[in-house]
Amino acid sequence: MDYSNLRKQSILAKENSYSPYSHFRVGAALLTKDGHVFTGCNIENAGLTATNCAERTAIFKAISEGYKDFEAIAICGDADDYLYPCGVCRQVMVEFCDLNNFKVILVNTEDDYKEFSLGELMPGAFTPNELEKGVVK
Ligand code: THU
Repeated sequence: MDYSNLRKQSILAKENSYSPYSHFRVGAALLTKDGHVFTGCNIENAGLTATNCAERTAIFKAISEGYKDFEAIAICGDADDYLYPCGVCRQVMVEFCDLNNFKVILVNTEDDYKEFSLGELMPGAFTPNELEKGVVK
Protein backbone atom coordinates (compact mmCIF):
# COMPACT_ATOMS: atom_id res chain seq x y z
CA MET A 1 0.00 0.00 0.00
CA ASP A 2 1.29 3.44 -0.94
CA TYR A 3 0.83 5.91 1.92
CA SER A 4 2.49 8.88 0.23
CA ASN A 5 -0.74 10.90 0.23
CA LEU A 6 -1.24 10.16 3.92
CA ARG A 7 2.31 11.27 4.65
CA LYS A 8 1.74 14.47 2.69
CA GLN A 9 -1.52 15.14 4.55
CA SER A 10 0.26 14.82 7.92
CA ILE A 11 2.76 17.47 6.85
CA LEU A 12 0.01 19.82 5.64
CA ALA A 13 -2.01 19.27 8.84
CA LYS A 14 0.73 21.06 10.81
CA GLU A 15 -0.40 24.30 9.20
CA ASN A 16 -3.46 24.47 11.47
CA SER A 17 -1.54 23.70 14.66
CA TYR A 18 -2.50 25.93 17.58
CA SER A 19 0.72 25.86 19.58
CA PRO A 20 1.43 29.33 21.03
CA TYR A 21 3.05 27.84 24.15
CA SER A 22 5.41 25.20 22.82
CA HIS A 23 5.77 26.58 19.26
CA PHE A 24 6.00 22.92 18.31
CA ARG A 25 3.61 22.06 15.52
CA VAL A 26 2.37 18.52 14.99
CA GLY A 27 0.17 17.16 12.23
CA ALA A 28 -1.47 13.77 11.83
CA ALA A 29 -3.44 12.05 9.10
CA LEU A 30 -5.57 9.01 9.88
CA LEU A 31 -6.69 6.59 7.16
CA THR A 32 -9.89 4.58 7.62
CA LYS A 33 -10.16 1.11 6.13
CA ASP A 34 -12.65 2.46 3.60
CA GLY A 35 -10.30 5.15 2.40
CA HIS A 36 -11.32 8.31 4.27
CA VAL A 37 -8.60 10.56 5.65
CA PHE A 38 -9.07 12.56 8.85
CA THR A 39 -6.38 15.09 9.65
CA GLY A 40 -5.55 16.57 13.03
CA CYS A 41 -3.19 19.05 14.63
CA ASN A 42 -2.13 19.76 18.19
CA ILE A 43 -4.34 22.25 20.00
CA GLU A 44 -2.78 23.81 23.09
CA ASN A 45 -4.38 25.58 26.00
CA ALA A 46 -3.26 28.09 28.63
CA GLY A 47 -4.25 25.44 31.18
CA LEU A 48 -1.65 23.12 29.67
CA THR A 49 -3.31 19.85 30.63
CA ALA A 50 -6.19 20.66 28.28
CA THR A 51 -3.83 20.38 25.31
CA ASN A 52 -4.85 17.85 22.67
CA CYS A 53 -2.23 16.11 20.54
CA ALA A 54 -2.52 15.94 16.76
CA GLU A 55 -3.07 12.17 16.77
CA ARG A 56 -5.97 12.32 19.19
CA THR A 57 -7.51 15.23 17.31
CA ALA A 58 -7.54 13.12 14.15
CA ILE A 59 -8.84 10.01 15.93
CA PHE A 60 -11.57 11.86 17.82
CA LYS A 61 -12.67 13.67 14.67
CA ALA A 62 -13.07 10.31 12.94
CA ILE A 63 -14.87 8.63 15.85
CA SER A 64 -17.24 11.57 16.20
CA GLU A 65 -18.08 11.31 12.51
CA GLY A 66 -18.97 7.62 12.88
CA TYR A 67 -15.74 6.02 11.61
CA LYS A 68 -13.95 3.50 13.78
CA ASP A 69 -12.11 1.08 11.52
CA PHE A 70 -8.63 2.38 10.96
CA GLU A 71 -5.72 1.27 8.81
CA ALA A 72 -2.88 3.73 9.41
CA ILE A 73 -1.85 7.06 10.90
CA ALA A 74 0.93 9.35 9.67
CA ILE A 75 2.46 11.77 12.16
CA CYS A 76 4.74 14.73 11.49
CA GLY A 77 6.21 17.11 14.05
CA ASP A 78 8.43 20.17 13.87
CA ALA A 79 11.29 18.02 15.11
CA ASP A 80 14.76 17.32 13.75
CA ASP A 81 13.97 13.65 13.75
CA TYR A 82 10.94 11.36 13.66
CA LEU A 83 8.26 12.29 16.18
CA TYR A 84 7.06 9.28 18.17
CA PRO A 85 3.51 9.51 19.52
CA CYS A 86 3.11 10.22 23.23
CA GLY A 87 1.90 7.53 25.62
CA VAL A 88 -1.63 8.91 25.89
CA CYS A 89 -2.05 8.88 22.11
CA ARG A 90 -0.66 5.33 21.89
CA GLN A 91 -3.23 4.22 24.49
CA VAL A 92 -6.03 5.90 22.51
CA MET A 93 -4.83 4.10 19.37
CA VAL A 94 -4.93 0.80 21.30
CA GLU A 95 -8.58 1.44 22.09
CA PHE A 96 -9.57 1.54 18.42
CA CYS A 97 -6.79 -0.02 16.36
CA ASP A 98 -5.40 -3.48 15.82
CA LEU A 99 -2.00 -4.06 17.43
CA ASN A 100 -0.72 -6.19 14.54
CA ASN A 101 -2.24 -4.51 11.53
CA PHE A 102 -2.57 -0.81 12.31
CA LYS A 103 0.40 1.11 10.92
CA VAL A 104 2.00 4.10 12.61
CA ILE A 105 4.05 6.10 10.12
CA LEU A 106 6.53 8.64 11.46
CA VAL A 107 7.15 11.31 8.86
CA ASN A 108 10.11 13.63 8.45
CA THR A 109 9.42 14.47 4.82
CA GLU A 110 7.11 12.78 2.35
CA ASP A 111 9.97 10.51 1.31
CA ASP A 112 11.73 10.16 4.65
CA TYR A 113 9.63 8.11 7.06
CA LYS A 114 9.58 5.10 9.38
CA GLU A 115 6.75 2.62 9.72
CA PHE A 116 5.78 0.54 12.76
CA SER A 117 2.87 -1.64 13.75
CA LEU A 118 1.00 -0.27 16.76
CA GLY A 119 2.07 -3.35 18.74
CA GLU A 120 5.74 -2.55 18.16
CA LEU A 121 5.20 0.85 19.80
CA MET A 122 2.98 -0.51 22.57
CA PRO A 123 4.36 -3.84 23.82
CA GLY A 124 2.29 -5.36 26.62
CA ALA A 125 -0.54 -2.96 25.91
CA PHE A 126 -3.54 -2.70 28.20
CA THR A 127 -6.31 -3.33 25.69
CA PRO A 128 -10.12 -3.33 25.88
CA ASN A 129 -9.83 -7.16 25.98
CA GLU A 130 -8.07 -7.00 29.34
CA LEU A 131 -11.25 -5.63 30.90
CA GLU A 132 -13.23 -8.60 29.55
CA LYS A 133 -10.79 -10.92 31.33
CA GLY A 134 -10.88 -8.84 34.51
CA VAL A 135 -12.33 -9.71 37.90
CA VAL A 136 -14.85 -6.87 37.87
CA LYS A 137 -18.16 -8.32 36.71
N1 THU B 1 2.32 16.64 20.67
C1 THU B 1 1.53 16.03 19.74
O1 THU B 1 0.66 16.67 19.13
N2 THU B 1 1.72 14.71 19.51
C2 THU B 1 2.65 13.94 20.13
O2 THU B 1 2.69 12.73 19.92
C3 THU B 1 3.62 14.55 21.03
C4 THU B 1 3.33 15.94 21.45
C5 THU B 1 2.14 18.08 20.93
C6 THU B 1 1.52 18.40 22.24
C7 THU B 1 2.03 19.81 22.46
O3 THU B 1 1.14 20.70 21.81
C8 THU B 1 3.36 19.86 21.74
O4 THU B 1 3.39 18.73 20.88
C9 THU B 1 4.56 19.83 22.65
O5 THU B 1 4.48 18.77 23.54
